[in-house]
Amino acid sequence: MPTIPHLTLNNGVEMPALGFGVFQTPPEETRTAVEAALDAGYRHIDTAAAYGNEREVGEAVAKSGLDVFLETKIWISDYGYDQTLHGFDKSAAKLGVEQIDLLLLHQALPSDFARTREAYRALERLLADGKVRAIGVSNFMVDHLTALLDRATVVPAVNQIEVHPYFAQREVQDFGAEHGILTQAWSPIGGITFYRDSGHTSTLQDPVIGEIARAYGRTPAQVMLRWHLQQGRSAIPKSTNPARIAENLAVTDFALTAEQLAAIDALDTGKRGGPEPDAVTLEAFGRAIPEA
Ligand code: A2P
Repeated sequence: MPTIPHLTLNNGVEMPALGFGVFQTPPEETRTAVEAALDAGYRHIDTAAAYGNEREVGEAVAKSGLDVFLETKIWISDYGYDQTLHGFDKSAAKLGVEQIDLLLLHQALPSDFARTREAYRALERLLADGKVRAIGVSNFMVDHLTALLDRATVVPAVNQIEVHPYFAQREVQDFGAEHGILTQAWSPIGGITFYRDSGHTSTLQDPVIGEIARAYGRTPAQVMLRWHLQQGRSAIPKSTNPARIAENLAVTDFALTAEQLAAIDALDTGKRGGPEPDAVTLEAFGRAIPEA
């Protein structure tokens, strides 16, 4: 079983660099997928209140008896100080834990940033109370991070954003690095690009990535995950296929050269696959997160 490197967060907490992602994994498939991931050696799972599968993640982890780093996210509909404290209660109960390892705000609410700040203040409270081991954000752009840091007392440990070879968000990564905020890549192998309507190839068929993969006898997915690890990022590849789940973890026994890393950096199209962070509003994206 591969040994996964750890990253140390800005408050000293250690986190396995590769986590198993379950975005869009239906609840009925989540338990089996998480079991396969734990069998393959993952010890870090990334979920979110909005994914609707926290309970199944918790069940698979509890059944395994393993010590697993659990990361989840508060949805925008639960922003506000008291609401976010209650959001923690809901997520912890569904996950079946007393303490969550890493709790993130899922999105900034640029049109109601005061509410975003209140939600973050609740995360700071949860951290002070020992209910979470680390706190952070997701999909925060530089202006959102700047506005948050203006009042925050705790610097977010993590900013989970879309990062893959076709969309690297360098400026957000650089801002994070300057402030001690670890970038964690969602859609790390570019899954979000597989369905894009443009004529562009998907990252899995990219000729540059393909050539590097052939040179090492590896797959394009493994090359992209190496790229993340060697550039110091956390990444949360998702899959529901046991062979690919294991494949995505078998990335610790080869290394890309500086030229190969640069060749992958050069593939950035600047085109976002996911929703535009500034377009996230309660009106457009709000939906109630069920009680535990
Ligand atoms: P599947 O669940 O059938 O494996 P991302 O995390 O970058 O968004 O990518 C997720 C997508 O990539 C899913 O469609 C997943 O499908 C697919 N996928 C995951 N791992 C691999 C892999 N090693 N090779 C090819 N496709 C993969």
